[in-house]
Amino acid sequence: MRCHRSGRKGRVETLKIGPIEVWPPVVLAPMAGITNAAFRTLCREQGGGLFVSEMITSRALVERNRKTLAMIRFAPGESPRSIQLYGVDPATVGRAAKMIAQEGLADHIDLNFGCPVPKVTRRGGGAALPYKRGLLRAILRAAVAGAGPLPVTMKMRKGIDDDHLTYLDAGRIAAEEGVAAVALHGRTAVQHYGGTADWTAIARLKEAVPEIPVLGNGDIWSADDAVRMMQRTGCDGVVVGRGCLGRPWLFRDLARAMEGSAERCRPPLGEVAATMARHAELLVECFGSETHALADFRKHVGWYLKGFTVGAATRAALTSARTLDELRARLAELDAAQPWPQAAEGPRGKSNTRRRVHLPDGWLDDPYEEVALDAAAEADTSGG
Ligand SMILES: Cc1cc2nc3c(=O)[nH]c(=O)nc-3n(C[C@H](O)[C@H](O)[C@H](O)COP(=O)(O)O)c2cc1C
Repeated sequence: MRCHRSGRKGRVETLKIGPIEVWPPVVLAPMAGITNAAFRTLCREQGGGLFVSEMITSRALVERNRKTLAMIRFAPGESPRSIQLYGVDPATVGRAAKMIAQEGLADHIDLNFGCPVPKVTRRGGGAALPYKRGLLRAILRAAVAGAGPLPVTMKMRKGIDDDHLTYLDAGRIAAEEGVAAVALHGRTAVQHYGGTADWTAIARLKEAVPEIPVLGNGDIWSADDAVRMMQRTGCDGVVVGRGCLGRPWLFRDLARAMEGSAERCRPPLGEVAATMARHAELLVECFGSETHALADFRKHVGWYLKGFTVGAATRAALTSARTLDELRARLAELDAAQPWPQAAEGPRGKSNTRRRVHLPDGWLDDPYEEVALDAAAEADTSGG
């Protein structure tokens, strides 16, 4: 892979999540529909870190839903194994955490409190949930108790909107309840994925909970962004989401940057094509079906080719490939020598914003009200 040098920085420290040592201090953000075993393996082949599964719900896990159990299958050699769990009922979250620990399903549990999707927040779930401090505490307490020796982390947003920030209280509650680390996506639910992530909030959280590691998340598009976030906020590690879509070698850059090396990958189109083929092969291993794998692969094509001069007909041919051989043949027709374009840098993936967050009636009246949520607040969630 082609590499370039620019400026040198010092090595950063190892991240400790309970008994797990993470070097470099980098986490692949859980992303629904993306971070399956194939994508995690592809990223892991590039560099170290923690690579979190797609989110599953605690209810579906304890009910042993077949699709859910398939979603938390790890590839051989994936270590440590991280599952992201979402739940709104302390007892069910506790049972799910216990099941993960007792059945050896993972080495680490991450809890998601960042989903901004209206059908979830409307019922008090996702990013709306931390507003009810008592319920948040009960869920974290049950998860930590159920997980036993496994470390539990939490991932959240800043709050519902700028007038209803929850992250500092949530961070303190997490530290008091024995959570091993907290990750903050520097946006409110109303921001969805729009605007820019607020890194100053990450610095504030670090000051508020010095006793546990704080991970910063939001708008890391390059390894240098990750180093900048750590320097500016004092956070202990970074969580990288959209920046690695169509560029799994970002994990190689991140490892190098954290080592203090200035080498960066800027692969020409031929190397990108080889990575695309590898990704599709891993998807076939993961799903056991070429049809399913190539259907899943479609959404990645545009991210891989971002900024390259590749015509619409060629892109369409790549997204419509039905077998690995067909995909490989079409990739072989690309201009392998075409250099990595500047236009491939910067934001990628969704960037939508919202005008308001849907909440249950009276939700904002009392942050300390004792509430129990309907199981429907757990249904059909995806995202953070
Ligand atoms: C397609 C997609 C799916 C996501 N799914 C989840 C999820 O299941 N759980 C979660 O905590 N966050 C989820 N997120 C949010 C990311 O983990 C991350 O917090 C967010 O994208 C901001 O980080 P970034 O700027 O590095 O992308 C998702 C984001 C995207 C783009």
